[in-house]
Amino acid sequence: MSFFITTPIYYVNDVPHIGHAYTTIACDIFSRFNKLKREDTFFLTGTDEHGQKVEKAALVQKKDTQIFVDEMSKNFRELVPFLGCDNDDFIRTTDDKHKSSAQFLWNKLKSNNQIYLSNYEGWYSIRDEAFYQESELTKVENGFVAPSGAPVEWVKEESYFFKLSEWENKLIEFYEKNKDAILPKSRYNEVTSFIKGGLKDLSISRTTFKWGIKVPEENNHVMYVWIDALCNYITALNYPDINNDKFKKFWPGIHIVGKDILRFHAVYWPAFLMAADLEPPKKIFAHGWWTNEGQKISKSLGNVINPYEIIDQYGLDQIRFFLFREVPFGNDGDFSKDAIAQRVNADLSNNYGNLIQRIASFIIKNANAEVSKPKKIEEKDEKLLQQFNLTFKSYLKNMESFQIDKALKNIFDYLSEVNAYVDEQAPWSLKKIDTTRMQDVLYVITLITIKCSVLLQPIIPSSIDKVLNIYNFSLKELDLVNINDFNPDTIKLNLPKPIFPRIEK
Ligand code: MSP
Repeated sequence: MSFFITTPIYYVNDVPHIGHAYTTIACDIFSRFNKLKREDTFFLTGTDEHGQKVEKAALVQKKDTQIFVDEMSKNFRELVPFLGCDNDDFIRTTDDKHKSSAQFLWNKLKSNNQIYLSNYEGWYSIRDEAFYQESELTKVENGFVAPSGAPVEWVKEESYFFKLSEWENKLIEFYEKNKDAILPKSRYNEVTSFIKGGLKDLSISRTTFKWGIKVPEENNHVMYVWIDALCNYITALNYPDINNDKFKKFWPGIHIVGKDILRFHAVYWPAFLMAADLEPPKKIFAHGWWTNEGQKISKSLGNVINPYEIIDQYGLDQIRFFLFREVPFGNDGDFSKDAIAQRVNADLSNNYGNLIQRIASFIIKNANAEVSKPKKIEEKDEKLLQQFNLTFKSYLKNMESFQIDKALKNIFDYLSEVNAYVDEQAPWSLKKIDTTRMQDVLYVITLITIKCSVLLQPIIPSSIDKVLNIYNFSLKELDLVNINDFNPDTIKLNLPKPIFPRIEK
């Protein structure tokens, strides 16, 4: 099976923050998980560089727009490896390849009689790059604001429209047949009731500014930034060449997006695709938003979380772990320093790190730095090993349904049992009375520690490299396909260095 996963492409009007990092890491986790299952995997991210919001940002900085987007896109590109993410491609909407792909899509929609010229008059938010109905807005002192809190302005211009209203039934039909095409379930309900409420045709071109992809055979119109942006997902698969291997293998793909941009992905995008004779996305997962110490994150409040600072302070895998263990994927979450310290100390330092540290050090000191297959497996050992199989099954089920927090809980609940087994079997006592049994127990613990580490790899990859190194294994020989058969005759150990130091509050 093949697996295509995408982040939204990020607006380059400003520098990256924790919200961007969150979506990118989520995709990296699913991509690594699928690579570890030996699936043919393609993980795409990139930048969204057209539109009024970006044009305005360049103007404020008094920079040439192209130079500005070149500089800003670089910030996003460099952030990806800093987050420990292993993307397969990075797309920019200002790439020539993308411009011609978006223009091809436009022409296709046009020749399928899906586009007409008219006039748009209504509300627009530059910050959200979205059109709003007056009924969606809230009155404030000097005008109206969108549900996101973004200011709106009244625009009146000639515009091309996409016949979105014609796709109402087709969309409903598609979602009736594919009940898990939008996750979590609550978001599915939200989208389908929005569609059932009736769809209006969508304005898809603008004439009041120039920074966008030119509408084919038009001088005054640039494409509405969302039709341009959404198309990135297929540009990366070499659209319009839909018979090439990449497209055939990877489309339809899976989009991970924030809840704020679900409508674009789950209503407009599938409609564009179907109208262009293409398949709608396989799945769209909408995640929640982070607050900072209980407060909405915003530039005006000055509480924007810089991913570089936070990772320098707490460590990369510590942050990756916190973001996905702490809050069910799909829910909103609160970023607090106390919560990070508590979570990292309890799970990574105590439950997991200490287990590795004390057992590996003990083996090095008391068992010649190696363990061999047990002479005799006792019932308690068997039970623990069996429990790993159950843990592994739930982990797979949860990761496949995008419930990273639950998959992590499976592993850490199990690690608590492993720790209880260690205390109960007490190898340090066995050392004095029964060294054969001591050896057997140490092997069981080591084997299980290695197996749990493989399961943790998608979430905390660089730490797991270090952990596996202690046992002289690597992911080249061990993955989610052959883990059940992993049962080496001997395991030789290297001296462990502490991998998850406690965070002092
Ligand atoms: N350019 C569009 C996406 C086009 S995709 C074809 C866009 N870009 S964005 O840079 O504004 O946002 C990207 C993502 O960051 C969104 O998924 C959004 O939900 C996410 N986040 C922004 N702030 C966030 C938080 N505070 N918390 C979590 N995610 C947040 O939208």
